[in-house]
Amino acid sequence: MHRALELAQKGRYGCSPNPMVGAVVLDADGILVGEGHHAVFGGPHAEVAALEAAGSRSRGGCLYVTLEPCNHHGKTPPCVEAIVAAGIRRVVVALRDPNTEAAGGLEALIERGIEATVLGGPEVEQARRLNRRWLRWAESGRPWVTLKAAVSLDGRIATRSGQSQWITGEAARRRSLELREEHDAILVGVGTVVADDPRLTRRLGLNPSQQWCRIVLDSGLRTPPGAAVVRKSPQQTLLVHTPRAEAEARQGMLDAGVGLLEVPARADGRVDLGVALKRLAARGMAAVLVEGGAEVHGSLVDAGLVDEVVFFVAPTLLGGPAPAAVAGQGVAELSQARRWRFETVQRHGDDVELHALIPEEACSQG
Ligand SMILES: NC(=O)c1ccc[n+]([C@@H]2O[C@H](COP(=O)([O-])OP(=O)(O)OC[C@H]3O[C@@H](n4cnc5c(N)ncnc54)[C@H](OP(=O)(O)O)[C@@H]3O)[C@@H](O)[C@H]2O)c1
Repeated sequence: MHRALELAQKGRYGCSPNPMVGAVVLDADGILVGEGHHAVFGGPHAEVAALEAAGSRSRGGCLYVTLEPCNHHGKTPPCVEAIVAAGIRRVVVALRDPNTEAAGGLEALIERGIEATVLGGPEVEQARRLNRRWLRWAESGRPWVTLKAAVSLDGRIATRSGQSQWITGEAARRRSLELREEHDAILVGVGTVVADDPRLTRRLGLNPSQQWCRIVLDSGLRTPPGAAVVRKSPQQTLLVHTPRAEAEARQGMLDAGVGLLEVPARADGRVDLGVALKRLAARGMAAVLVEGGAEVHGSLVDAGLVDEVVFFVAPTLLGGPAPAAVAGQGVAELSQARRWRFETVQRHGDDVELHALIPEEACSQG
């Protein structure tokens, strides 16, 4: 299972909104004869890839797979059928599939006379951790939300005049571009579009999937028609607005080729984030990377909708009335502040990446 987990990680870029899955086949004598992983969304599942690699040597053998094999016709035929056809005698899985449509694989295998079990032990936690973003989406119907920002040592995301490009150096910026390729969507507030005119593109070519999206929270559709997110690949942009957006503004954006998503407004007239995230999840966005600004960060944190925080901290102090990384309502008492857990701390050139998770998602070793 350890090896199957290693293989699963090869799908880090490309398999979302499917999970990362790895599989190995041992022959009847316990010798490893096939390996596979789920590489790209809609592509062959890990079990099928491993069985194909093993060929006839899988007959009478054992399959270790990090997620319960599927038992339904999705983008590919059910893995249960492939396992039966290959003559596998025993199947061991690390995690059951929470997706009701695809689940039931273990029972189906047992019905077909195959010994099928769920593994206990540390691999189970590793398997959960590896797919925590996908599990959030599959189990709760909302995407995993990662909040990412470049901040100064005093926690500011811009100078007092609103300048933020660039707070961090090249190495940290490259790492933040990698994060874009691990997520299905990049989300910002319209304040950031107006202030910075970001392109919000994937640039590293790590993820072969074209199924990604950039999202702007823009209640009244005030995104400038000349903004980069409108001019460049508009079909990849989705503006999330409320009923208050004027018909003319809607038509202008539709004519420009941009997608629109209307959601209800909160009491203050802004986008209802809970509803917006659920709608994005229903469109297959399992993991969303939020890249600013302070108001959007604040609203998400206030609503308890952030799962992961990645701050790139630069050794500089901006001071004065410069915006902090997280605005919103904030908390009045320290006891109300959620305690996060640091997962990793890494250096990138002169900058430091602080990576924190909500405690229930952090690894138990702390
Ligand atoms: N250092 C970094 O990593 C970084 C990254 C990004 C941005 N920045 C900086 O951040 C600054 C912009 O931040 P900002 O706080 O002014 O703008 P923002 O958070 O990007 O956008 C805020 C706007 O989003 C809209 N919105 C819609 N629904 C919302 C909701 N539920 N909650 C909050 N906002 C909602 C609102 O406008 P409507 O009411 O019109 O919809 C709101 O005014 C700029 O100075 C930029 O340079 C820094």
